[in-house]
Amino acid sequence: FNFNKLSLEDENDESQKGINKASKGGLIYGEYLQLNKILNAQELESEKKGKKIHDEHLFIVTHQAYELWFKQILWEMDSVRVIFQNGHVRDERNMLKVITRMNRISLILKLLVEQFSVLETMTALDFFDFRYYLSPASGFQSLQFRLLENKIGVPQSLRVPYNRRHYRDNFKGKDHELLLQSEQEPTLLQLVEAWLERTPGLDSEEFDFWGQFEENVLKGLEEEFALIQAKAESEEKDDLLSEFQKQKDVLLSLFDEKRHEHLLSKGDRRLSYKALKGALMIYFYREEPRFQVPFQLLTSLMDLDVLMTKWRYNHVCLVHRMIGGKAGTGGSSGYHYLRSTVSDRYKVFVDLFNLSTFLVPRHWIPKMNPSIHKFLYTAEYCDSSYFSSDDSD
Ligand code: HEM
Repeated sequence: FNFNKLSLEDENDESQKGINKASKGGLIYGEYLQLNKILNAQELESEKKGKKIHDEHLFIVTHQAYELWFKQILWEMDSVRVIFQNGHVRDERNMLKVITRMNRISLILKLLVEQFSVLETMTALDFFDFRYYLSPASGFQSLQFRLLENKIGVPQSLRVPYNRRHYRDNFKGKDHELLLQSEQEPTLLQLVEAWLERTPGLDSEEFDFWGQFEENVLKGLEEEFALIQAKAESEEKDDLLSEFQKQKDVLLSLFDEKRHEHLLSKGDRRLSYKALKGALMIYFYREEPRFQVPFQLLTSLMDLDVLMTKWRYNHVCLVHRMIGGKAGTGGSSGYHYLRSTVSDRYKVFVDLFNLSTFLVPRHWIPKMNPSIHKFLYTAEYCDSSYFSSDDSD
């Protein structure tokens, strides 16, 4: 390689063309990003105590990177909640913004799920060397993580207690207030629920989706039963009958509103009965133009739950590897406490996953009449003066 070719005097060198604007003054990179604050925020407790441990730097930077990304997720999540809260989703064009931001949240979370592997290059013994210095600090006190859980809609009643105490007891002053506020504000779950209750066509007089669906299920079950009954007596027939009975109970339970209310009170279901019907409608008719984007939103809400669960799982695996069965620096039982959080209690959109239980053969799905079918082609709001950025940014 001939380095002379990179000579400063070569006037024909395309790669060197341009004007060095920064030399004329004004905002520069480090100032804009306030790097003096961020890059000077890694103070090793071990160093302060006179015994610098190399890996503490990685430990601090990893946590800080997580917190910065949590901040970005909250930023996106708040903007999505505002769009719902202001009723801007009534104009279906705004759904693109919602979907884009939810997708961005998913991509960040994927990064965060993977990011634990960098910290796993630290050995348990290396961690042991400085762990003592950071006690009683703990991720348990991460305000942003709790805000995120609350804003998505993790119900307070289903949280795993921490040493039989409420998670909020660990926070004081402004942080405590912010947490209280986040518990009182409408959660993403509640906003999505209200939106699902308005699913186009759900309340239509021309199309009784729920009534027709129940009718089709009853008819479909009868036909299935008749087919099994026609078989000659055998062990296989008995198995089919018992399988059929189970499937029948599950499907018919969907039309039992009282049962739904009971499951709701136990926390086993989270959406109102009407919202659940709306969600099922979107599942069934997802190919209709007006349901394609709503279907994508429902998918991204499940992604959110899955990725949060994967985060919890990868975190607990890291913790197990680092401290085994020891108690956490924050004072919980550590691994055992964290393991109990990797459960459906913490899944917010659990109903959307469970909808798959109620999927039926395609021909059982009620056929739409031409007018409702046409209605699902056109957006309700057609304001030609529409300007997409007027809601927030
Ligand atoms: C060596 C690495 C780590 C260890 C040993 C560890 C250990 C623990 C333990 C034992 C707890 C339970 C609370 C307690 O008693 O302290 C906890 C909670 C938590 N940690 Fe970590 N952690 C590590 C890395 C991280 C990282 C990189 C993050 C990123 C932000 C993080 C965020 C959290 C959060 C948010 C909680 C609360 C989880 C919940 O209550 O559901 N941890 N951690």
